[in-house]
Amino acid sequence: MTEAQSENVGNWVDIPIPLPEPGTTAPFIAGGRELLLCNADGTPYVVRDQCPHAGAQMQGGALRGTVLECPMHGGSFDVRDGAPVARPIRRAGWCHPVRAHGDGWQVDLG
Ligand code: FES
Repeated sequence: MTEAQSENVGNWVDIPIPLPEPGTTAPFIAGGRELLLCNADGTPYVVRDQCPHAGAQMQGGALRGTVLECPMHGGSFDVRDGAPVARPIRRAGWCHPVRAHGDGWQVDLG
């Protein structure tokens, strides 16, 4: 597989919103999925807008560095890989790869 071919592997779609301010998140929908665009000190990450603990929406939760806190019970996970950081979250959060594309960003919906 060539490098150009490998860049097109996946299900990349445009993120329809601009990157929010550093340390904040913004919800959007792509491919029928509710997602959250996170600006972790200038680096974009996309996670599913659903807590791996009890399914609450993650939007409105504090983002400190790469750690996103759930507004429902205060659990948290790392937006880089979904790794749980604080209980009651014990399972990994759902994360999607992000890449720059033109003037904006794309997310891989897998
Ligand atoms: S629903 Fe998110 S920590 Fe409980």
